[in-house]
Amino acid sequence: MCGIIGIASNKSVTANIIQSLKRLEYRGYDSAGIATIVNGNIDEKKCTGRVDNLEKILFKNPSNGFLGIGHVRWATHGAASQINAHPHSSEEVSVVHNGIIENSDELKKNLEKKGYKFKSQTDTEVITFLLTDFLKDFNLINAINKTLEKLNGSFALGIIFKKYNDIVVGARRGSPLAVGYGPEENYLGSDSYALKSMTNKITYLDDGDVCILTNNKVEFYNSKNKKVNKEILMLSDDKNIAEKGDYKDFMSKEINEQNITAKTCIKEYVDQLRKEINLYNFPVKPEEIKKIVLIGCGTAYHSCIAAKYWFEEFTNISIEIDVASEFRYRKIKFHKKNLYVFVSQSGETADTLAALDLCKKNNMKTCSIVNVVESSIARSSDFVLPIHAGPEIGVASTKAFIGQMLVLYILSIKISEIRKDINKAEYTKKINELKNLPDLIKKTLKFQDKIQVIAKDFLKAKGAIFLGRGLSFPIALEGALKLKELSYLHAEGYPAGEMKHGPLALIEEGLPVVILAPKDRYYEKTISNMQEVIARGGKVILITNEYNNVISENVRSTLKIPNTDDHLTPFLMTVPLQLLAYHVASLKNCNIDKPRNLAKSVTVE
Ligand code: F6R
Repeated sequence: MCGIIGIASNKSVTANIIQSLKRLEYRGYDSAGIATIVNGNIDEKKCTGRVDNLEKILFKNPSNGFLGIGHVRWATHGAASQINAHPHSSEEVSVVHNGIIENSDELKKNLEKKGYKFKSQTDTEVITFLLTDFLKDFNLINAINKTLEKLNGSFALGIIFKKYNDIVVGARRGSPLAVGYGPEENYLGSDSYALKSMTNKITYLDDGDVCILTNNKVEFYNSKNKKVNKEILMLSDDKNIAEKGDYKDFMSKEINEQNITAKTCIKEYVDQLRKEINLYNFPVKPEEIKKIVLIGCGTAYHSCIAAKYWFEEFTNISIEIDVASEFRYRKIKFHKKNLYVFVSQSGETADTLAALDLCKKNNMKTCSIVNVVESSIARSSDFVLPIHAGPEIGVASTKAFIGQMLVLYILSIKISEIRKDINKAEYTKKINELKNLPDLIKKTLKFQDKIQVIAKDFLKAKGAIFLGRGLSFPIALEGALKLKELSYLHAEGYPAGEMKHGPLALIEEGLPVVILAPKDRYYEKTISNMQEVIARGGKVILITNEYNNVISENVRSTLKIPNTDDHLTPFLMTVPLQLLAYHVASLKNCNIDKPRNLAKSVTVE
């Protein structure tokens, strides 16, 4: 979480820092700040809220240094106030920080004894004062190393100095950090996306690395303080992809382009001419896999649940799923014939990355399914399967979910074919069915108008419940997650069969209950659960298939998704639920692209 930018240049850096901070706002938008060196002194400006507010401050009081750092914050230690906003500066140094310093209380006490006066409640200010203190007795590089040695926890840092007024310093432990190279200027950024408007030449720092940037030189030091050369990567140029176009917000664009997301992803992996899936060089032989463990957080975790059903259906491999924040601390029994699969849109989620690191420390084979191919998770895993969804800017994940499920689905049929768990004819049939999926997804987008009307029922509701069985269960969870994060309405997703074990007590007159009942092998059972809800006054929104005419009179609204193979139905069930969350949130005037308290890339625990 939080975003860092740093620039060393031979001209004013303020405009570029502001532009980069705007790109970074998807990582945090509680507060923003900038520090530059003006007339030999550190000039710090910060504010609560959005980067626009910072821009207004700078318009009234310009700050035109030739080097500087900027930050957007997602509060961890201390409220989202101006004082707690980054940078944190002393007379000598100014620091921006992503991550958490776990021993900050103890360090703070020692620094206070030395007379340092803390202004903020953040863990970051200890870094400012440690550096200030060490700079009294040590040269630059030693002062930095002494400071970093004192810190426990994870961090990415951007630092500028009054005395060394032509350099920006970066340091990484745990949280990602990248360097970019421009014409007579160099950049530091918490991700490549922040830097892409200025350059596509990037170097990623490894854990323990420190970098020193001037406008015409970049030096790297590794964790052993040894000067090292690092590889420069050329990133793909997708400067223009992340534009809203004619859409009101990124989320509506991202929902509406899901047919294209699916098409691109299928094209990348499926050869319709040869009726083959282009997936080779697995880190473990599929025939020898004993167990597949699928790990993710939030929406990505929901895609893992769906994958469990597919893998169990198509292969004889035993499947486990886990949320990364639980997996990383459990006493896991690792086995060298297991494959560990990590699903993450951003590829930077701290819990997922830590779970991956744990597997690597235990010499396990890892595969990642990510949207950002330059991400830490992608770079750390043995085998990377990109979802090819293009930048997802709306904080709530939509097209990435479709992409994650699609790659997992494709992976499950490929592995089952290699293992001969399904025969060639079934394999070819599955490949053929994929051809139609993008158009079927497009058809579900046409529910917009109907859903706009249904959404009104949710305005006065105390909450909502989403029910499904089998492959509709993870989609019910995802529907509930989308509704709560976008509209702040309490929502629960449940396996429909669980209702009678407790949640049925929540049903009362008028409570909206979304029932996912495609005409699959669970249909009759789900419809019985729906009747139990109706009998208790629940206002049912039923989502089923086109060929289904057995609809109860007491159902408030019915949406009929196109008919397809049962295994592909989850893709079509997802879209109406995303639209529902979107329209409820719109009616409530919520900030669609930036829901409160959330951030796009969760790089803290
Ligand atoms: C929900 C949402 C989150 C993310 C979760 C994992 O709409 O976006 O639940 O899915 O934070 O993020 P990634 O996929 O980047 O690891």
